[in-house]
Amino acid sequence: MLGTQIRPARADDEERITRFLRGLSLHTQTLRFFTGVATPATVLVRTLLALDERRDALVATMNGEIVGHAMSYRGDGADVEIAVVVTDEWQGFGLGPKLVDALLLRAAVRGATTVGMDVLGENRRVLKLIRRLWPDAKMKVTSGSVEVTAMIDQAAVFAEQGSGGTPLTA
Ligand SMILES: CC(C)(COP(=O)(O)OP(=O)(O)OC[C@H]1O[C@@H](n2cnc3c(N)ncnc32)[C@H](O)[C@@H]1OP(=O)(O)O)[C@@H](O)C(=O)NCCC(=O)NCCS
Repeated sequence: MLGTQIRPARADDEERITRFLRGLSLHTQTLRFFTGVATPATVLVRTLLALDERRDALVATMNGEIVGHAMSYRGDGADVEIAVVVTDEWQGFGLGPKLVDALLLRAAVRGATTVGMDVLGENRRVLKLIRRLWPDAKMKVTSGSVEVTAMIDQAAVFAEQGSGGTPLTA
């Protein structure tokens, strides 16, 4: 996608990520965070930007503003749990899957082989996306949400990166 860049989150992204969260529709906020985040707490903002041995975070930017965010953290069940959100205006252009691919490549390099995702049962769009990305994913339904677990297809993520399919500059 011309003009969109994917890069690791940085500590100096606090104001940008706050603007990004405020700009999400309540529907998108709820699908991602299971609640509204129009007035994001500092602890949430910092968690979204944290990169350490347990956490990774990527942002997609357009003209310097954040239009997408994806994060992974070491999970209990799967090796990494991931979550992703794209601003309403940019949904439907393939940015979400690009963020997920880039995140999984980085997780696979660190040795992760399984990925988990918690999804609201009503989130048909992302459930469909998951079935397309990970056809063999296991889905466990628990009180309104779906716990998805899948194998990271290492061959696919590395090949995609090698072919330039998921460049860090998209
Ligand atoms: C889920 C999400 C990250 C996907 O990112 P994306 O960049 O929109 O992904 P895509 O462009 O590949 O679109 C995914 C599907 O949604 C559809 N879609 C996207 N925006 C749409 C819209 N506004 N109206 C209808 N369909 C839409 C696309 O057509 C595509 O369907 P397809 O698989 O039949 O082609 C993004 O929609 C989002 O941020 N949703 C809210 C947060 C969320 O649900 N996060 C996941 C739980 S952590």
